[in-house]
Amino acid sequence: MGSATAHANTNIALVKYWGKRDTDLNLPAVSSLSMTLSTMGTTTRVTFDPGLRRDELLLDDHPAPEAARARTSRFLDLVREASGVESFASVRTRNNFPTASGLASSASGFAALALAATRAAGMDADLATLASLARRGSGSAPRSLLGGFVALPAGQAADGSDCIPRQVAPPEHWDLRLVVTLTASGAKTVGSTEGMERTRLTSPYYGAWIEENARAMEAASRAVVERDFETLGRVVEASCFRMHAVALSAEPAVLYWNDGTVRVIHRVRSMRDAGVRCWLTMDAGPHVKVLCLPGDADLIAKDLAAMPGVQGVLVERPGPGAEVLP
Ligand code: DP6
Repeated sequence: MGSATAHANTNIALVKYWGKRDTDLNLPAVSSLSMTLSTMGTTTRVTFDPGLRRDELLLDDHPAPEAARARTSRFLDLVREASGVESFASVRTRNNFPTASGLASSASGFAALALAATRAAGMDADLATLASLARRGSGSAPRSLLGGFVALPAGQAADGSDCIPRQVAPPEHWDLRLVVTLTASGAKTVGSTEGMERTRLTSPYYGAWIEENARAMEAASRAVVERDFETLGRVVEASCFRMHAVALSAEPAVLYWNDGTVRVIHRVRSMRDAGVRCWLTMDAGPHVKVLCLPGDADLIAKDLAAMPGVQGVLVERPGPGAEVLP
């Protein structure tokens, strides 16, 4: 019985991935740049067990919903195919942040699963192999394999062999903060896979979104290397609003914001007008994440925590890549 445990932290895209060039292989249509976080993450233990009659998934010690179990099982099929292991596996996974918060991340989940499952299957997978597996689980997951600031090129190869993450700078390169606000949710949102496919198929602006990507990547990567906060902030916020704009231009529109989201957006803008250097980003959900410098993080976190519609605030910094645990 092969067994292994791995941990991966989640990542937040500074330049957003939204849209696929190949849905079967889950290849992104645009390149993305992210920051791996320091505390929010997933720990996963995989055990291949010849005694099992199907794959099992425990999430925070409870049997996971069937859709999540089946998605994990399809992922394990890829690992079985690559390793020659034939037995089913038991997977125990735990997020170190409230799973029900809506921050649950497929990025840390599939990065940890790719690492634990390949190790449990006796493979010593290199970055390219781990990345192509993690990507099949979720397009943002390969970025969580590496720490700090990470670029994932869209690539052009039909088999995805040039879609491998690269560290632009390690975590210690730049001591930034990301203030994560949890805004009241409620209604269920559209999953990112469905949202980006709908966008690709129906938005008249999709071509412009794809076309703009190279410029954003270039500017953001350079700003990271040069620690140019003003430029990075501007590119991050523009990438976020353009992603949401193209999603909103789908039919039916893909809208992730709620009242709290819009209030926090306005608040961040007025703080910036008042001289606080902060820029926001949002993903496929209502929460707003604010990029700032270490000296401003407490003030921003306190201010946003007191706003109506904000249920909680976490402060993150650049963190390490995924690792196998003893
Ligand atoms: C808005 O990686 O969740 O967070 O590949 O379909 O699983 P799938 O999508 P996913 O999409 C992430 C979208 C995003 C932006 C980003 O992280 O780049």
